[in-house]
Amino acid sequence: MAEAAANLPGHIAITMDGNGRWAAARGVPRAAGHKAGLKPVRMCIEECTHLGVGALTLFAFSSENWGRPPEEVGSLMSLFLEALDSEVAELHEKGVRLRFVGARGSLPVRLQARIAAAEERTAGNRGLALQVAVSYGGRWDIVQAAQALARECASGALRPEEITEAAFAARLSLAQLPDPDLHIRTGGEHRISNFLLWQLAYAELYFTERLWPEFTAADLAAALRFFASRERRFGQRPAAASA
Ligand code: FPP
Repeated sequence: MAEAAANLPGHIAITMDGNGRWAAARGVPRAAGHKAGLKPVRMCIEECTHLGVGALTLFAFSSENWGRPPEEVGSLMSLFLEALDSEVAELHEKGVRLRFVGARGSLPVRLQARIAAAEERTAGNRGLALQVAVSYGGRWDIVQAAQALARECASGALRPEEITEAAFAARLSLAQLPDPDLHIRTGGEHRISNFLLWQLAYAELYFTERLWPEFTAADLAAALRFFASRERRFGQRPAAASA
């Protein structure tokens, strides 16, 4: 169990990287690495629920991941289907509200249907808000918000001068949530890789060498300690100096 942090993030976003390297190190197929990645997913949901973190957003499949070999893409789509079948009842019991964000029209139709059913089933829950980003890209998100605004302007429902930061944010995928306070990336790379480009503007960024399948509650606790030690200024002067 993670130690409770004094200064807890309200919203955590995670880039779950390193499944492939974890699998290669064991001489097993990459699909086995992705499957092993479900364990830390469950752990993070458990810990966030236990600690009272309001929202958790997981980057499970990027817009760019469609460029991977078809057998790996297929194994990931099957894993999402299996995970929906095996996990949703328990998530519902825990009061988790599950949502998928991304270009869902490009997903297999069967998966789209299961996602819609899971979202509908858990929509009324008031516990952890869990977002799974699949076929998601930060640039895609910004473009789809721009298209929505353009449509509204073209129809006369909105005037261009009404396009404020708030109006823009309201058309993004995570519109109803506060921006992530903490972004965690496993697997050693120090990049955002087209995740929540708009929403991570002021997030604290935490990188760890740990490969995702090996990410434990102690690792999450270390990330939370890092977060608790940060002084967040949001572009302002430090609290002590601003008086
Ligand atoms: C990146 O590791 C990871 C992915 C592309 C898939 C992540 C998916 C899961 C952990 C399954 C979670 C499922 C649900 C339902 C949330 P990589 O393959 O890029 O690893 P590498 O950098 O070592 O090659």
